[in-house]
Amino acid sequence: MSFLQLQNISKIYESQPVLESINISIEKGEFLVLVGPSGCGKSTLLNMIAGLEDVTQGAIHIDEKDVTHVAPSERDIAMVFQSYALYPSMSVRENITFGLEMRGVPRDERNQQCDQVAEILQIGHLLDRKPSALSGGQRQRVAMGRALVRNPLVFLFDEPLSNLDAKLRVDMRTEIKLLHQRLKTTVVYVTHDQIEAMTLATRIAVMNGGVIQQLGRPEEIYYHPQNLFVASFMGSPSMNLIEIEAADVNGQICFEIETSNGDTHAVALDGYQCTGGKYVIGVRPEDLTDIETSDQRQTNTLRFSSPVDVVEPAGSDTFVVIQVCGQSVTCRVRGDSKIQEGGEAEFLLNLDRIHLFDQHSGERLKRVVS
Ligand SMILES: Nc1ncnc2c1ncn2[C@@H]1O[C@H](COP(=O)(O)OP(=O)(O)OP(=O)(O)O)[C@@H](O)[C@H]1O
Ligand SMILES: [Mg+2]
Repeated sequence: MSFLQLQNISKIYESQPVLESINISIEKGEFLVLVGPSGCGKSTLLNMIAGLEDVTQGAIHIDEKDVTHVAPSERDIAMVFQSYALYPSMSVRENITFGLEMRGVPRDERNQQCDQVAEILQIGHLLDRKPSALSGGQRQRVAMGRALVRNPLVFLFDEPLSNLDAKLRVDMRTEIKLLHQRLKTTVVYVTHDQIEAMTLATRIAVMNGGVIQQLGRPEEIYYHPQNLFVASFMGSPSMNLIEIEAADVNGQICFEIETSNGDTHAVALDGYQCTGGKYVIGVRPEDLTDIETSDQRQTNTLRFSSPVDVVEPAGSDTFVVIQVCGQSVTCRVRGDSKIQEGGEAEFLLNLDRIHLFDQHSGERLKRVVS
């Protein structure tokens, strides 16, 4: 049995199903990220692991113990909430050590543990302040400190960075990653930020509508999204999804790429077990570039010329919008690209990196030969 095992977990709120048959096995030391749009059930699942919500159906095991009906305080987990939930009348030191005090840990030991955690989080100089005298980032650290001091079996984080500004968020993301490398405690971390998910996770569970859409390592989720939902949710800018119609041309299944200057280019769907009909082609912006940006190692490419609708400089990259099959498509080119809006440019599509989805079911079609 895995260290943290969620077996067939379902949740129904007032006859409304919110989670359906969730099965996740989490190994000791893993950093599992639950990601998905608002309302998909991330917090509900986390709260069930914490014991703050009843489980309608299924079982939760932590370290081989069935904790499905065990009180939160008996589960040996520590949780950091989005709101931090600090006690406003207590100092930072009191906030961090309160849980230890409740469990009868003597004062000297409490202070020693608090000092250790404060050093890790670099908040030693703030220990006598009240939460109201702290910045958002400092409060976030105190909330982390309160969880860390417990040295629990599992850390649960519910969007701990969502109240921070963009720069602090990125800094804290790196700190959380370093902290996990150092402590190697099992973590379940909720976010709706797909970049946070990609950078922190050892595995990601992508959720939608109370169902796990895909569970896998970040690179599996990114390079082999199992369906259109995962494909469009993960990645920034998102994957281009182009509706196409494939047809049998002399025994080969092909589709056409049409640009806004009226040019058409046939592309064969080699290696896919598909027939003619409607499909969705997924193309990540980095797999559709100009000649200058393209990867020299690419061999299976389609080169075409297209009018340029929009150029969006974004620092290290520039995003260029063109029309493919009558749909707006984003290409990624170098930050110092000279491509001009209203001009025309040559583009390269990496055919080894296109994703093919069934338009009706949204499921990925597997490529059987390379
Ligand atoms: N106490 C409750 N009673 C009834 N429905 C609830 C309750 N708590 C949550 N829900 C519903 O359950 C669904 C999942 O909520 P949950 O808070 O788990 O979503 P979430 O993925 O964490 O969203 P967010 O990203 O906005 O935090 C939502 O449709 C929500 O309205
Ligand atoms: Mg939530």
